[in-house]
Amino acid sequence: MIFSCILVPQQSRYITKHFYNNGQYPVIKLKSKQTHLGHFQKDGYWEAVIPGDERFNDFHIYGQPISFQHRFVIDGQHTFYWPEPAEPNGEREVSLRLAPGSPLSLVWGTCELYRGLLLSDTGALITKNAFLTSEELKVDPGTLPVPPEGYFTVDQAALLEDGIIFRIDGALYWRDNQDRVLTEHPHLPTSGVMGLYQRTCCASNYPVQDVELSSLIVWKENLLLVGPKKLKNPGRENFLKIVLKVPPRVTYLTASFGSHPASLATLVMYSVPGAISRNFLTSYNELVPSWITSTFMTKFKLKDIPKGPFEMRFLESADASLLLWNKETILYSFHNDNEWGEIRPFNASHLSAAAFGSKIHQVTLDHSWNMLVKMENNILFYCKVGMHEVVRLHKWMEPDSRMVLYLNQKEQINMLTLTPEGLHVQKYPMMMETKSAMKGSYHDCPFISFEHSMNTISYNMDKGDQMVLWAQIVYPEGKGVHVKFLSNNADLLYIEQKSHFEGVNSVDTVNTTFIISQKVDYSDATSYTHLTKKTSGIVTLELVPNQIGNTCNLPMSRISHFNVGCPPNRHIRVASFCDLHAVFAVQTYGITIPKYQHLTTYVAIVFTLFSLCILGYSYCRYVTIFRNLLATKRHKYE
Ligand SMILES: *[C@@H]1O[C@H](CO)[C@@H](O)[C@H](O)[C@H]1NC(C)=O
Ligand SMILES: *[C@@H]1O[C@H](CO)[C@@H](O)[C@H](O)[C@H]1NC(C)=O
Repeated sequence: MIFSCILVPQQSRYITKHFYNNGQYPVIKLKSKQTHLGHFQKDGYWEAVIPGDERFNDFHIYGQPISFQHRFVIDGQHTFYWPEPAEPNGEREVSLRLAPGSPLSLVWGTCELYRGLLLSDTGALITKNAFLTSEELKVDPGTLPVPPEGYFTVDQAALLEDGIIFRIDGALYWRDNQDRVLTEHPHLPTSGVMGLYQRTCCASNYPVQDVELSSLIVWKENLLLVGPKKLKNPGRENFLKIVLKVPPRVTYLTASFGSHPASLATLVMYSVPGAISRNFLTSYNELVPSWITSTFMTKFKLKDIPKGPFEMRFLESADASLLLWNKETILYSFHNDNEWGEIRPFNASHLSAAAFGSKIHQVTLDHSWNMLVKMENNILFYCKVGMHEVVRLHKWMEPDSRMVLYLNQKEQINMLTLTPEGLHVQKYPMMMETKSAMKGSYHDCPFISFEHSMNTISYNMDKGDQMVLWAQIVYPEGKGVHVKFLSNNADLLYIEQKSHFEGVNSVDTVNTTFIISQKVDYSDATSYTHLTKKTSGIVTLELVPNQIGNTCNLPMSRISHFNVGCPPNRHIRVASFCDLHAVFAVQTYGITIPKYQHLTTYVAIVFTLFSLCILGYSYCRYVTIFRNLLATKRHKYE
């Protein structure tokens, strides 16, 4: 196999020793929040066993900071991947393009953010390594007639695990990862498809058993269909499953997955001849199949509802919270329609008006609640999700550059710019840019710091067990700030709260402890099965400050799922859904490959222990991060 590795200097050997002498063992934390301890080996490297056979690994390395040459060595986040050799395109292969003049369009793997497909009106680029490298994606037309222009004009695409679906002129086509032939697949509709929506947040850590949640929504004139993350499955009759059929007067405007991994929603238009048509938002739960119509659309006066086409995206939250936008403006509804309105720039009626009439191109959300709205002319607006005023950021790119924002697996915003020479990938320093745009303005944060201990995606909760979480908020006296603890399905849990308050020099600190245990209602103890059913399920909890501001720093994790009602002989534990199987031997000055064994791949990767980021001297006002990567080399192993 081939993989990338980083060669490091003598200093890292020294640091490794230093760690060892201090009795410290570095910890690797995977995306699934699973942790693995590293062990020092005799010959100067440390090794951590990571189960799985992944082509791509992205993880954090943690440890106590240690001092090295008057600097501190801190935690870091690193990505390792095996570049897969790409087969060159042959003579027969033809290009796929968007309609002339379309802005760039980007799709990425739901659980594999590093797999991406960039569509443009000049061709399609595909990557398996977060656009470190990319190549033109072409298809073998197989038995399909090639259009006279010599390429296929694509409207939309979805990246499944085993292939790509393209929407071309109302039909869905399949391009298998293996044979790369574009085909009409018996499981895909050949006409009338109006839209596709691919899940944006990975649901594989949602503790649902024996049910595969959908990854794709497809809508036709009066049918809404869902499909899983792979098309090929010999045991399955159909890839797409109908979840909603509407009468002819109702039209689907858009659809997306919901705030909880098991929910999805669609915006529909109901037209009655001779009357004004009305829009409704209705949502569906895949676990308890049922539809509920939201009050969202009824909150607005008819004249205030913008005209489509619409796009919609739900935020990960314990309550339903969403953004709905057209080309000019964004509407929002947070916390089950308790807060709603239009997202506005400071001095303009809507986003488009504040961007010289340009249209909304992309709405990008990261996990720390940052939202960037990119206009077609490359003007960017920023706000914290939950705020309704956006800030216009300083100009960063020329209005006529063909650019798209891409949030990679490290939660960094990248700008992908397509020029006649090729694709340019540039990091966008979002935090610096937003701070600079808001400097000296009235934007502020009502609190000084907010942190909590709920940092695992999912927990299993056994009968009779209890679990303690805390959340601490520090704020200037008299601001009325507190932590909100939101949940859905809360009847399943008993949550006791205790707050510890401290006020020093006009700064208040409140640390709230949440003692969580399972609530069992013994009133119906006659039927054990019934009781178990009533007392088990998945509860989503969310920890948020009651007030936020555009300049706040917020923790990455906001929600956790609690799988309540496990067999009584199990204990609360971090769910281990991931089944990665690889060994990373981390060495300070060389590479070792123990051996290749069955499914387990042994990989050795060299890098400095924690030393990839070194904090600057303390007299520096601002923290300077130096990368201690002095040389990078690529190795090839069989
Ligand atoms: C809004 O304010 C910004 C910055 O203060 C200014 O550059 C812009 O021209 C204003 N827009 C309108 C529509 O007044
Ligand atoms: C908050 O309180 C809990 C329990 O008393 C404690 O473990 C935790 O460290 C406290 N948090 C902070 C930031 O001090």
